[in-house]
Amino acid sequence: MTLRGLDNLIQEVGVRGKRVFVRADLNVPMRDGAIADTTRIEASLPTLRKLLSAGARVVLSSHLGRPKGKRDPAFSLQPVSEALASRLGRPVHFAEDCVGAPAETAVANLGDGDIALLENLRFHDGETKNDPEFAQGLAALADVYVNDAFGTAHRAHASTAGMVASFENVAAGDLLQSETVNLDRLLTPERPFMCLLGGAKVSDKLGVLEALIERADVIGIGGAMAYTFLAAAGQPIGKSLVETDRFDDARDIYERAAVNNCDLLLPTDHIVATGPDQADTAQIVTEIPDDTAGFDIGPVSASQFAERACGSKTILWNGPMGMFEEPAFASGTATVALGVAESSALSVVGGGDSLAAVNQLGIGDRIGHLSTGGGASLEYVQGLTLPGIAALER
Ligand code: 3PG
Repeated sequence: MTLRGLDNLIQEVGVRGKRVFVRADLNVPMRDGAIADTTRIEASLPTLRKLLSAGARVVLSSHLGRPKGKRDPAFSLQPVSEALASRLGRPVHFAEDCVGAPAETAVANLGDGDIALLENLRFHDGETKNDPEFAQGLAALADVYVNDAFGTAHRAHASTAGMVASFENVAAGDLLQSETVNLDRLLTPERPFMCLLGGAKVSDKLGVLEALIERADVIGIGGAMAYTFLAAAGQPIGKSLVETDRFDDARDIYERAAVNNCDLLLPTDHIVATGPDQADTAQIVTEIPDDTAGFDIGPVSASQFAERACGSKTILWNGPMGMFEEPAFASGTATVALGVAESSALSVVGGGDSLAAVNQLGIGDRIGHLSTGGGASLEYVQGLTLPGIAALER
């Protein structure tokens, strides 16, 4: 798919003195009112710097969390505007609302090379409902539209889809472009192709599993979702998290893996404990006792996953192998992460938790591509059309 990029927009159309609406994904994790991870803020900077130095009047927008159409200070983008200002080395004017008088005034006050950040788009339910009137209110703020919100490209919302048709000139930002270029390499991967999938729920990963089982040579499954697979195969899982309504799906995946010659790796040993807060009871087992639950893959499984990663030419990893935020349950994710980092494969890591694990281990520079998209990257590698990208096609 060919989209107009930022350089082409700047050279062919010109942005000096123009109001450029930039939809970014500044949906960063917040803890106690502070930004817990700035990856998405850093990733948005190249597009912003390019536009500002070309003299654009940047109208920046994003959502944060899921405030469900209501103004809620816990989801304000104000802390993000401060983080952006310090990184861009210039003021980032903050508009207390993303439409109406506060937004219009902030935009009217912009000079060439200035930037304003609009308050959380999801304080209005018109955003997620893709309401035409709300989309029109956003579109009225600018002359040109740029989408750099790869992480939100799988949502057909007012700011990613509805408003786009109002613009004659639209472009993909540098982040969105680099994500698509890197993720395209997983659509026709160099083999062996290994997928590592983790996280809590099979239901979140079912679509990607179904699509990748035809493309991957090996799929390693960790995290709580592994217990649904093990239970569906009749293995004891104690008190581990399980989705009983997904047993048929899990059995179907086993069958399709066999038909497609895809090695489906499930953990054969586990780190269990009597509860998530009872790390002092943690032990390594091959058979999960009834009164315990699994919170991480065991060392044998982790080494096996890491070894297969080392022998692969392409790797996609999404979702941690265990409850890695607790040190007693972090070793499976760490071993797998190091295996991915050591591999000479083209590696792509996506999803907030996997990125946090990579950052925690300080190995980000040894991963081929760190995707800022969780759900978006999974939908993209399934070959699905993402509404935020489709809207940019002309
Ligand atoms: C994400 O974090 O995956 C994106 O920002 C999209 O957020 P959403 O799942 O709340 O739409």
